[in-house]
Formats: sequence, structure tokens, C-alpha cells
Amino acid sequence: MLTRRRFLTRATAASAAVLAPRAGFAQDDAPRVLRAAASRAQIAPPGYPETALWTFDGSLPGPELRFMQGDRLRLDVVNDIPQPTSVHWHGIRIDNAMDGVPGLTQPPIAPGETFAYDFALPDAGTYWYHSHAQSVEQVERGLYGPLIVEEPDAPEVDADIVLLLDDIRLDQGGEVAEPFDSGFDRSHAGRIGNVVLTNGQTAFSREVRQGDRLRLRLINAANARIFELGLQGLDAMVVALDGMPLAAPESAAERLVLAPAQRIDLIADVIAGNGEDAFVIHYDRDGGYAQATFPVSAGTAAARAPVSALPPNPDFPITLAGARTATLLMEGGAMRGLSGAMFNGERRDGRSLAEAGMFWALNGVVGRTVTPLIEAALGETVRIGMANDTAFAHAMHLHGMHFSEVRADGSLGPLRDTLLMAPGETREIAFAAHNPGDWLLHCHMLSHHAAGMGTFVRVT
Ligand code: C2O
Ligand code: CU
Repeated sequence: MLTRRRFLTRATAASAAVLAPRAGFAQDDAPRVLRAAASRAQIAPPGYPETALWTFDGSLPGPELRFMQGDRLRLDVVNDIPQPTSVHWHGIRIDNAMDGVPGLTQPPIAPGETFAYDFALPDAGTYWYHSHAQSVEQVERGLYGPLIVEEPDAPEVDADIVLLLDDIRLDQGGEVAEPFDSGFDRSHAGRIGNVVLTNGQTAFSREVRQGDRLRLRLINAANARIFELGLQGLDAMVVALDGMPLAAPESAAERLVLAPAQRIDLIADVIAGNGEDAFVIHYDRDGGYAQATFPVSAGTAAARAPVSALPPNPDFPITLAGARTATLLMEGGAMRGLSGAMFNGERRDGRSLAEAGMFWALNGVVGRTVTPLIEAALGETVRIGMANDTAFAHAMHLHGMHFSEVRADGSLGPLRDTLLMAPGETREIAFAAHNPGDWLLHCHMLSHHAAGMGTFVRVT
């Protein structure tokens, strides 16, 4: 392992080497450095002080990493925060050893140390990266950023705009509010913030022209907030979900729901007039707010060609007949509770679990880490029927492979990596077990995961 001092020397040399000949991050040879460290930013409304954060490369969100489909991503992640960390590349059908899950796929990166991430990017689409250690705190403090993989034959647009949505809970002094292990957050809807951000700003704005065709890449990086969104002055088609292209674009519904970790790619034509604003609207309990504002200047308002589908990513067909099956019962949380569950190999009653800050169980196990929920052979199809027997919504995320929902009529929904399950719902997912390794399946409401809502599947 490198000492901090040696590492810094190396980091400086590496960034210098990369920065010289190239613009942007896409590169196939020299690894670049991504540094997790303390920084400050003005994110509270004007009048409040700056907020102390932990960010990648000093910015909130972290740098927009852009690569071409088929590139290798090579990044040395330096940990300069005072806690062990790791980076998960959310939605990438990645080599298991690079998945960034401490204790499952790698040891945590200790303070002062570095970890070399190096993996292929098989799919084009909208992804993101975030800390996967102590994530309730580390993601909240800002350790996340967008990871965009471009199609070699991308659709022609006038602007390609990432909208990374987040909320953050600040205290009266403008600092990130502690504690991060609140029993209330862990047992209810998770840590919901009181300041809503787009790309780290409370009033994100970007100028466009009348008639522009935009690609909007919406990413929900919030700990637990389910964003309900709408559009104004934009005529939009949904072309991808969770990075994966839809077989046929669909016109955007009046309300778009974006659960934690989910993404939506839109191709949106600016139909607002010169001098007006177009908006992405966030519908909160008490009304609609501008999540992103697009002031519109004069342009050509000529009719645009219909939006066509994005080129497909490599296909791993799902074969329902003869699939390996499992069921997943989601239990616990406020208003339901756990009568008893296995925790660290022992049966505990609900009270002693709550005392340990654990509130959720999957199939009667809290935070399963030893034996997988299901073991599948490479190439098999796996079906998992999931029942949400809790009073809360959960955003269930599978690492390493995308799944389709098996609808009531037996047809397959679009590929996704995160499925929002409402209280009381039973849904079934299916995936082709095409990627070997141990892969987490967990709730992306980060306080829920920390309080036991995680398991894993094994592909051998
Ligand atoms: Cu986006 Cu297990 O994470
Ligand atoms: Cu949950």
C-alpha cells in the first residue's frame, strides 16, 4: 500500500501527465486521479454561510466523467477524508472486483490510501458514481458525481445537459446536519433534506434557444427523496431509463417519478418562446418549484424530426421459462416493526434490533452478508418476486446486472437497475445472470440499507 506522502507525489505526476495533451476525461492509457477530500461550497440560500462538504476533486457534484462506450475507465481514487471510503459505479455492468462495495468486493480505502479502479464500460448511457462506505453520511456530504458513457453514434442534439438532483439536510448554521444515524430516519422514510439542489445549486439555470433539441440526463443522487417531476416549455420523449435505451421512445408523462439512484434520459425540444423560461419542475407536497430553469433566447422554431431510439446496448436475453426463482419479503420499519430476525447469525427480537439501530429485514435476515439470497450459474435467468410488507416505499437496486420487471401479463418491462416499490406492493423482477460475482441487492434509501435492508446474489 502507498503511504500518503508517496501517493501525493504520484497523484501530482499522474494529473500533470493527463492534463497536458487532452481535454476532458476520456482516456485509455494513463489513470487519472479522483480525490475525495473536504471542501466548502455555497449551497445554502444567500445569507447563509458556506457549507463544509466532502467532495470529489473539490466540487459538488464531483467532476462529470465522460467516456465513450467501449473505453476503459482508469481512475486512482485517493481517500483524503477521515473515514474509510470506496466508490461504486452505479449501473455499470462492471467487473465484480471494481464494484466498490467494502467487505464484499474490496477492502475499504483507508484514509490516506488509494485504490486503482480499472474497468471496461460495455454500455452507453447515464450512470453515476458515489461513495459506498458509510454512505448515509458520505453521499450526503457530497461524495457523488455523474458518469456519462456516450454512444459512438449518439443522437444529434444542441446541448447534452446533466441534471444531478439531490437534497441535503442543513442545520441553522448552514452545516450538514448531524446525526447521520438517526433512529427516526432509519425506521421511517430515510434522511430527507431541507435544501433541494440541481448540480449542487439551489437555483440551477442554463440558457437555451427556441427550438433547441436537448438531451437531459436526470439523475437522483438524494439519500432518500423520491422526486416527482414535470416539464414546462419542453416537448420531451423518454429515451432511456437507468442508462438503458428504451426499445421505442415514449412521450414523457405529465409526472415523472425518479426514485433515489434512478435516471431518466429525455430528448426535449424547447417549445417555450423567446424571452420565456422552460422548466424542469419539482412537485413537492405544497406545490411546484423550479428544479432547473432554462431561459430561452431567439432561435429557429422549425419542426424537428421525430426522436428515434438510442442504439441498443449489448443484450443478455432473459428467458423466463426454466428460470431460477427466489422470493424476497421486505419487512420492518415504523408502523410495522420486526417481531424477530436474524442479525449477525443470531436470532434477535425487534427491540434488541431497534436498540442496535436495525429496523429492516429481507426474508427475516437483517443485512445479509454471509450466504447469498440466491446462487445462479452464469447464463441462467433469475426471477425474484419481491413483496413490500412495510409502510414505506423502497428503491430496490441490483448491482452488476440490469433487470426487467415481469409484468402481470408475463411481458417484460424496460431494463432498469433500481425499482421503486410502494408500500404493500408485490412485484417481480428477472435478469440474465451474465456477470459473475457477488452482487448487492439493497434499498437505495441509504438509511434503510444501513438499517438492514440489504442482501446479495451470487453468480458463478
Ligand atoms: Cu448506488 Cu449499492 O448503490
Ligand atoms: Cu428502503
